[in-house]
Amino acid sequence: MSYLHTYAEGEQARLQRQAELIQPLLYEGWEAIGEPSSILEIGCGVGSQLQFLRRRYPRARVVGVDRSPQQLATARQRTVQDQIELVEAQGENLPFEDGTFDFVCLYWVLEHVPDAQPILQEIERVLKPGGWVCFSEVHNPSLYLYPDCDRALEFWQAYNQLQKDLGGNPEVGVQLPFLVTRQSWRIRHFRTFSPNLHGDIVDRHRRQEIVQFWLDLLASSLDQLEANGRAHPPFAEVEAQMRRLVDEPTAVIDYQARQLLAQKPC
Ligand SMILES: C[S@@+](CC[C@H](N)C(=O)[O-])C[C@H]1O[C@@H](n2cnc3c(N)ncnc32)[C@H](O)[C@@H]1O
Repeated sequence: MSYLHTYAEGEQARLQRQAELIQPLLYEGWEAIGEPSSILEIGCGVGSQLQFLRRRYPRARVVGVDRSPQQLATARQRTVQDQIELVEAQGENLPFEDGTFDFVCLYWVLEHVPDAQPILQEIERVLKPGGWVCFSEVHNPSLYLYPDCDRALEFWQAYNQLQKDLGGNPEVGVQLPFLVTRQSWRIRHFRTFSPNLHGDIVDRHRRQEIVQFWLDLLASSLDQLEANGRAHPPFAEVEAQMRRLVDEPTAVIDYQARQLLAQKPC
């Protein structure tokens, strides 16, 4: 199976840093969910978001599934104290009874599958009546960089073309409302969120952190770009352009990831 980011150790560490950086952005509107007693994360990777879910809902049963045994092995080591159940499974074929969970969430998973519908149907099946589902997904055409970072944007184009060619969907975020129309769910919100850089962020450490997040994301495709013989600008040029943004007060990194929160009718 070809997976854009790979399951290498460095990529697993990136997922952890990513989960930490986006935490403050994730929970707007989640008060509506109340206190779920059972939570499933599909595509849980190395368990980074599961640990935050465990802290947010300390009394809930928390379950993570992923198709990758490598990701789950790391997740097991990292969550050993957290009372989290980890199961190897495809999101398209979940090993749970109908109506098992109060809340199902996915972060950055539908972008990696050729067809989201089989996963959505499984979510519908395993959700209890009145249960909630939350998707946090990419919309990669929305990336805007200022001042001009042409080498970084060329690299981004190669990244996105490869993701499409591997069967993924780097635009899935904006398609979420359409994708869920086949289910009976009521959409509670459909909003944007992202670790962006704008002129009001003046703390240099914070600016470095945001630029590094984007560099790490771009670099996460390097192994697969090489393995698939794809042309791309040398990463050193991408890095040099993006690092300039840290000390350029007018710099902008603007990106619009999407989150959709919906409820299955009672
Ligand atoms: C970008 S990672 C995100 C991991 C985690 N959700 C996070 O935010 O840290 C995507 C994960 O989804 C998993 N995945 C992709 N397609 C899947 C599928 N159809 N069923 C189960 N897991 C899947 C991959 O193995 C990978 O671990």
